[in-house]
Amino acid sequence: MTARILDGKALAATIREEIRDEVSRFVEQRGVQPCLAAVLVGEDPASQVYVRNKQRACERAGIASQLHRLAETCGEDELLQLVADMNADPAVHGMLVQLPLPAQIRAEKVLVAVDPAKDVDAFHPENVGRLVQGRPRFLPCTPHGVQQLLVRESIEIAGAHVVIVGRSDIVGKPLANMLVQRGAGGDATVTLCHSRTRELADVTRSADILIAAIGRARFITADMIKPGATVIDVGINRTDDGLVGDVDFEAALAVAGAITPVPGGVGPLTIAMLLHNTLAAAGALI
Ligand code: GUN
Repeated sequence: MTARILDGKALAATIREEIRDEVSRFVEQRGVQPCLAAVLVGEDPASQVYVRNKQRACERAGIASQLHRLAETCGEDELLQLVADMNADPAVHGMLVQLPLPAQIRAEKVLVAVDPAKDVDAFHPENVGRLVQGRPRFLPCTPHGVQQLLVRESIEIAGAHVVIVGRSDIVGKPLANMLVQRGAGGDATVTLCHSRTRELADVTRSADILIAAIGRARFITADMIKPGATVIDVGINRTDDGLVGDVDFEAALAVAGAITPVPGGVGPLTIAMLLHNTLAAAGALI
C-alpha cells in the first residue's frame, strides 16, 4: 500500500484564491483594504522567511501589510509601545508578533497586550479561552489549517481517535480543543501526548488520525502508525538533508492511508488561514 499524499500546497492555493475573491468583494462593498501588521524582533533566519512569506501572501490576496522591525536587543517596553500603537491604529485590522522573541522579552506580556479583536494568531488568553469554550473569535492558524485539510480531503473526524503528539500552545493544545468541539470539523476523541507519555507507540498505533507536532526530525517511525491511518506532519526541522518533518515520511508511506509531505503539507495552510483571520478581523472592526 502507498499512502495518498495530502497536498497542502495545492489546497492552500485554492483557499488563497477564495480569500482573494472575498477580499475583492470586501474592498468594493466597504471601501477599506484589510491590513495585517507584523512585528519581527531580531534576525532569526526562519522567522525572517516566515514573515516575508506572510507579507507576500497578503499582497497576492489584496491585503495590505506592514512590517515593523525591532533590534534583537530591544527592550520589552519598546515592543509593548509598538503593540499599543498598532492597537490604536484604525488602519491596522490584524496584527502578529512573530515568535520566538529574544530572551529579555517575556512573550506572555506581549501576547496579552495585543488587542484581542486584532489578534489574528489567536494567542491572546481571551481568544484561547473563547476557543476552549467553543465560541472562537479567531481560530489559530496552524490548527485551523490542519482542520481544513482534514475536512476538505473528506477525512472523517467525527468519532475518530485523533492522537496529537506535542502539547505546544501554538499547535497541540489548541488543535486538541478544536477537534473535540461539537459539530462540523469536531466530535473527535482526542489524546494529547507529550514527552512524559508512557508507551507512546502503543498510543499512536491506536490513532485513526495521527498528528505530529513535536519539532523532532523523523520522530514518528512507521511502526508507530496504524495501517491505513491518516498522518498529519506539522513539523518543520532543518537538518543536513534539508527540511524534514516529524514523521519518517518514506517509511510511513508504506503504512499510512494518507499523509502530508514536508514541505508542501501543513505549512502553506498556516498562511492561508492567517489571511482568512485578517479579513475576518477587518470585517468585525469596520
Ligand atoms: N512562530 C512559529 N509559528 C508562529 C505563528 O503561528 N505565529 C507567530 N506569531 N509566530 C510563530
